[in-house]
Amino acid sequence: MARIVGGLAASHVPAIGGAMAKGLQKDPYWAPFFDGFAAPNRWLDEVKPDAAVVIYNDHGLNFFLDKMPTFAIGAAPEYRNADEGWGLPVMAPFTGDTSLSWHIIETLVDAEFDPVTCQEMLVDHAFSLPMELFFRDRAHAIPAVPVVVNTVQHPLPTLARCFKLGQAIGRAIESHPEDLKVVVIGTGGLSHQLEGERAGFINKEFDKRCMDAMTGDIDSILRINQRDLVELAGSQGVEVMNWVAMRGALLGDVRELHRNYHLPISNTASGIMLLENRPKLARAA
Ligand code: DHB
Ligand code: FE
Repeated sequence: MARIVGGLAASHVPAIGGAMAKGLQKDPYWAPFFDGFAAPNRWLDEVKPDAAVVIYNDHGLNFFLDKMPTFAIGAAPEYRNADEGWGLPVMAPFTGDTSLSWHIIETLVDAEFDPVTCQEMLVDHAFSLPMELFFRDRAHAIPAVPVVVNTVQHPLPTLARCFKLGQAIGRAIESHPEDLKVVVIGTGGLSHQLEGERAGFINKEFDKRCMDAMTGDIDSILRINQRDLVELAGSQGVEVMNWVAMRGALLGDVRELHRNYHLPISNTASGIMLLENRPKLARAA
């Protein structure tokens, strides 16, 4: 059986791709961000997961406003990267795990989630950058399942619904018959707003509350409605929904192993987290 060994989260700002292409990882502006990946990189080298399920939001590359699924899941052997308009260099394709994809899709449909299934799918910076930052030279080889959540066009799914989606994904992974160590990744956030009167908005207190909730009072986050989430996180900071879905997938005992918080990266408060997931100990009757 597959098991979930941990959860990872990271922000996904396009400018990170520009900095990587220019080799600016040690530049004083960028180092506090890139250095935040050293601990997750060491952990991934030790744990050596066999597959990654990546929960993120598409930014108009694969889905546009004319057709916007609430949830979509890749079921392709390969995912090509493309530039959705930031001028980033196009990366090599990423590898899919179609067997895990279809198992997750079938389990979700049984659980009354009805995702769009994508046997062809382009992946944007929200998938490609965290993959390269976490997995480095394995990024394009590690079998992955992309899961897209609509954080872009209202009405958005609620945080509670995203958490339940994550729980259903967690149950799907843990019932997958292949003997795999799987990590679940959530990308996006933390607080940021790119447009309008509140452009540049960042909310450190709310970001800390979200990071603390990953091993603490997640229910208090799940009660926030989407209007209040936009108010608290900024109109693009709602991407923390992907973190909440990732956290939902960790069904065991969850422990924080690492966090990094740094701002700004472009217009965004950047957060990185590593959560360990251990099977729940059988409780004495
Ligand atoms: C920025 C952040 C994002 O999440 C995004 O998708 C695009 C741009 C930014 O801070 O520049
Ligand atoms: Fe984004």
